Amino acid sequence: MESVKIDMETKIIKIENVKHQAAAIEAAAAVIKSGGIVAFPTETVYGLGANGLSAEASAGIYEAKGRPSDNPLILHISDMKMLESIAAEVTTAAKKLLAAFCPGPITLILKHKPVVPLRITGGLDTVGIRMPDNDVARALIKSAGMPIAAPSANISGRPSPTTAKAVYRDMKGRIAMILDGGPCTFGIESTIVDCTSTVPTVLRPGAITMEMLAEVLGRVQLDGALSGGDSIPKAPGMKYTHYAPRVPLTLLEGVPEHMADGFAKAIAKFEAEGHTVGLIASREIAEILQHEPTYVYGDQGDIDAIAACLYEALRSFDDVPVDMLLGEGTTDKGLGLAVMNRLHKASGFRTIKV
Ligand code: TXA
Ligand code: MG
Repeated sequence: MESVKIDMETKIIKIENVKHQAAAIEAAAAVIKSGGIVAFPTETVYGLGANGLSAEASAGIYEAKGRPSDNPLILHISDMKMLESIAAEVTTAAKKLLAAFCPGPITLILKHKPVVPLRITGGLDTVGIRMPDNDVARALIKSAGMPIAAPSANISGRPSPTTAKAVYRDMKGRIAMILDGGPCTFGIESTIVDCTSTVPTVLRPGAITMEMLAEVLGRVQLDGALSGGDSIPKAPGMKYTHYAPRVPLTLLEGVPEHMADGFAKAIAKFEAEGHTVGLIASREIAEILQHEPTYVYGDQGDIDAIAACLYEALRSFDDVPVDMLLGEGTTDKGLGLAVMNRLHKASGFRTIKV
């Protein structure tokens, strides 16, 4: 890979009130319009934004992230007119999803018009389109007056950032500006739905759950590669290593009643082998184990809370002297499907059944 310059001054601008800070939003939009990169908050995770209709501007994103060039970018829009300017056809499924969930944490895959550069789509005839439900994001897109291409604002392979501080940690010196809109509400990336297939297909689970989609669409399926099949994932990004903490993570999976015992045994085994172990676990398990260091990710079964801090949990061990992590699995129902998808990827599918 080409060497990346990391000597740029990266400005962080705190946005407390979009209406009162129009000048700051305009300054960020000016960076985008001139071909630069601005990191911005969304309701899912922070994005790394550039002019979505410029191949050259988007090339800067791949460089800053160290991202493989065949992995396409999502275009972020602020209104339906922008959608019509880039989508060749808005399918029936897409219309239903737009009405039910947009703006919100969902990305629609649709056939694109020729204005969308090949560099953004990785050469596919489709493009991911998303209308974020976040004031700062919407104001930025509106002020730029164009779709903004944005992947999650992490170095490729690392956990996605859910705070401006986490963005700064990965992107310092690599991008011009970070808009700090506080922590993200959902904490995991949008649900991706392929709206071009006969049966709408979820390529990446997220906060808009299978159950919610089924209610609106009737039929919906999970991409075979996600449900344990060995087919190649349809979202090119899903085949890469992802969300990896600094040290290896092993996931404990099983019923809550067996968790504490499973953890105790695993900790004893790994410590006997000379490892220093960190834990990511529920409050209930942490209270029983009294192990240091432990990141408490929420109450057992409180999936909303767990999703919101999952990536912070993985990043929290960046500077802690441990050489392995043990994480507590959750249910895979509802939002749990997305949480377990991210935990499986973060652990490279290393699991212990308890
Ligand atoms: O919540 C989100 O979606 C965040 C925020 C910033 O909006 N963005 C995000 O982007 O997660 P990124 O680039 O980190 O992940 C986008 C995923 C990748 O796995 C990519 O391969 C897939 O979407 N994707 C993009 N365009 C696609 C297409 N035309 N067909 C199939 N998959 C696509
Ligand atoms: Mg990403």
